[in-house]
Amino acid sequence: MNNMSKSFFIETFGCQMNKSDSELMRFSLENSGFTLASDEGSADILVFNTCSVREHAENRALSRIRSAKSSIKKRKGLIILTGCMAQRIGKQLASDKTVDLVIGPFQSPRIGEIVAQFLDDRDRNIYLSQERGDFENRIDPKLAHSRDILPWHKWVTITHGCNNLCSYCIVPRVRGPLISFSSELIGEYVRLLSDSGITEMTLLGQNVNQYGMDSGDIPFHKLLMKVSEVDSLMRVNFLTSHPKDFDDDIIDVIKDHDNISRSIHLPLQSGSNRILSLMNRKYTIEHYMRIIEKIDRLLGDYAISTDIIVGFPGETEEEFHQTLRAVEKIRFDDAFMYAYSPREGTSAYNLGELLTREEKTDRLKTLIALQRDISREKLRSRINHTEEIIVERISKKSADRVMGKTFLNHPVVIPGKGDDIGEKIKIKILGLRGTTLYGNRIA
Ligand code: SAH
Ligand code: SF4
Ligand code: F3S
Repeated sequence: MNNMSKSFFIETFGCQMNKSDSELMRFSLENSGFTLASDEGSADILVFNTCSVREHAENRALSRIRSAKSSIKKRKGLIILTGCMAQRIGKQLASDKTVDLVIGPFQSPRIGEIVAQFLDDRDRNIYLSQERGDFENRIDPKLAHSRDILPWHKWVTITHGCNNLCSYCIVPRVRGPLISFSSELIGEYVRLLSDSGITEMTLLGQNVNQYGMDSGDIPFHKLLMKVSEVDSLMRVNFLTSHPKDFDDDIIDVIKDHDNISRSIHLPLQSGSNRILSLMNRKYTIEHYMRIIEKIDRLLGDYAISTDIIVGFPGETEEEFHQTLRAVEKIRFDDAFMYAYSPREGTSAYNLGELLTREEKTDRLKTLIALQRDISREKLRSRINHTEEIIVERISKKSADRVMGKTFLNHPVVIPGKGDDIGEKIKIKILGLRGTTLYGNRIA
């Protein structure tokens, strides 16, 4: 059957890496003659781009796949599994016929070709090689003109995979080792983006601070400098950093470049040195505090966010309290907090589950409550500040108000209209309602 008559729909789970891959897949499918369906219910080909980071993420994707199955069968369509779950359990899901075709992260950017071939001969249905030669590059100049939800912003993937073996984490197993993209290609791509009107970008990788360590390319702080010196870039962000590789050079580069975000995401994971060591994180809480002190000394106004896991195997009540004390001391603006989820294939999996589900959820609730209060206090401390926001959208609650984000990534609502979207506006913060700051523009 002609590909043109087949439509596809991509459902994306997991992190920004997967969202970027979904964009590449959409491009590849369109290049091979498939068309984007307006909704899942009418598509001939359903792509589930999945995440394996926690059991919950996998279960959600599995239940979505199972519920889509009967209707796609009736339409004689295909279910394709891509992303991290494809790599982890794709073979199993193909052999029990949960999905028709499995394509791992290395090959997913050429999904169009693979699907066309599969429709032709139904021969091979598993593509999971992690050979370097099968790695499809993520930087494609053709993508420079496709737009994110915010039309002035672009995610720029600078590395794929991860060389750290944090003991709880499945990512290196499913995404493979660190592969840094050439700084020359990244530089050209970023200039292309800036010429096409992009004013904000986020450099993306599992541990961006290790950029170049595999390939001998320039180190991360030099790449950050190079990108931030491209004319017309109003904001440059980067995700994610790792405390063990977050060198002073990076803080110095941020300090010297006004357009680099002062909102820094630095996952702590635990406040206990014993647990950090069991997690194979390769830093201590003292090292983490030294980074925060340096950021505090050099950057003045900044925001810091983090990731924390509670209930790692064997975490004692006292060790959990060390995490609470670290959170109280550091006072994160924001935190993504998780209960430990054992992942088969990781080294921590062999430790077994040493806490009950209830113990883990109780700890998580306690931590979330503490952080919620701190986040609110940090927001409240912005009242009376003069700041700049980039307006993102009309307020959900009122048509004559708009929401924008400050340089520290705090959302603020001000009076405004659709014309303001994408504009940088100077404002004064007046108050806090719930978790939203509100303010007024100033001349
Ligand atoms: N590369 C990034 C993000 C990895 S996944 C980093 O190193 O920070 C995002 C977060 O999920 C991690 O920071 C960690 O807090 C959490 N996470 C990863 N594996 C987990 C697991 N098995 N159980 C619970 N949380 C986990
Ligand atoms: Fe996972 Fe650690 Fe790599 Fe992050 S740095 S992706 S937590 S192994
Ligand atoms: Fe991202 Fe989940 Fe894979 S967090 S890298 S999609 S396991």
